[in-house]
Amino acid sequence: MSSEKFTLEIKDLHVNVAQSDENAAPIEILKGVNLTVRSGETHAIMGPNGSGKSTLSYAIAGHPKYEIVSGTVTLNGEDLLALSVDERARAGIFLAMQYPIEVPGVSMTNFLRTAVTAVRGEAPKLRHWVKEIKVAYSELEIDPKFAERSVNEGFSGGEKKRHEVLQLGMLKPKIAILDETDSGLDVDALRVVSEGVNRYRENENGGVLLITHYTRILRYIKPDFVHVFSNGQIVESGGAELADELEEHGYERFTSTAAGA
Ligand SMILES: Nc1ncnc2c1ncn2[C@@H]1O[C@H](COP(=O)(O)OP(=O)(O)OP(=O)(O)O)[C@@H](O)[C@H]1O
Ligand SMILES: [Mg+2]
Repeated sequence: MSSEKFTLEIKDLHVNVAQSDENAAPIEILKGVNLTVRSGETHAIMGPNGSGKSTLSYAIAGHPKYEIVSGTVTLNGEDLLALSVDERARAGIFLAMQYPIEVPGVSMTNFLRTAVTAVRGEAPKLRHWVKEIKVAYSELEIDPKFAERSVNEGFSGGEKKRHEVLQLGMLKPKIAILDETDSGLDVDALRVVSEGVNRYRENENGGVLLITHYTRILRYIKPDFVHVFSNGQIVESGGAELADELEEHGYERFTSTAAGA
């Protein structure tokens, strides 16, 4: 296990998204996000549809469509916003997207090898690689035949999510952002995916930012902190009990506060 400690620090982050009509003014989505995620910590973010959770994950990972208006994002003090998407990945940021993209014509195994080589700084030895792939697929209980298929092409929702967690285990980031990695999973897949995340937490002492709508995954992956995201901001933070309160009472208490602000 890595003993080095990492801290992802987000301060007063404001983010706009460009509209497809170039003449239209950009829309402000994030309105001052403050959040610190350290090695070994798991933070769950819950909040209504459209509140900006995925926007936050894309802004951290470096998606070009999102314009950083103001604020800072640093990893151990280093300015992440100054880095390209690739450099952020090499620095140790991993994003499992809510809607993983399909890459026709690129096999999963080639994609994984390229990603692993880029992040580790050297290509894995072929003999080790074959074994590593085999272990990774068996841990996520995926048929190894999938390794020869094009990245995510024609994969079911659950198959895509399993492959996101497979990547997490192979890339061993310092901070992992998981955007609704639990959505659409059957009960067995939920267990397998959660075990994958927990293995990562234990082996790497990684920091996890888990975006979810459901408390059921939080029974497997215990969060240290739960944050309520509403209207582009974190409006409340608490412990695991906050998730239960949300499940019981919904977001009304928070959305009405945000609307009045
Ligand atoms: N290209 C775009 N043009 C206009 N609006 C956009 C664009 N991209 C994002 N938005 C808007 O930004 C808001 C935040 O979207 P985001 O995907 O971050 O929400 P979310 O909290 O992840 O929601 P969900 O829980 O449904 O996944 C939404 O209202 C969305 O419509
Ligand atoms: Mg989202």
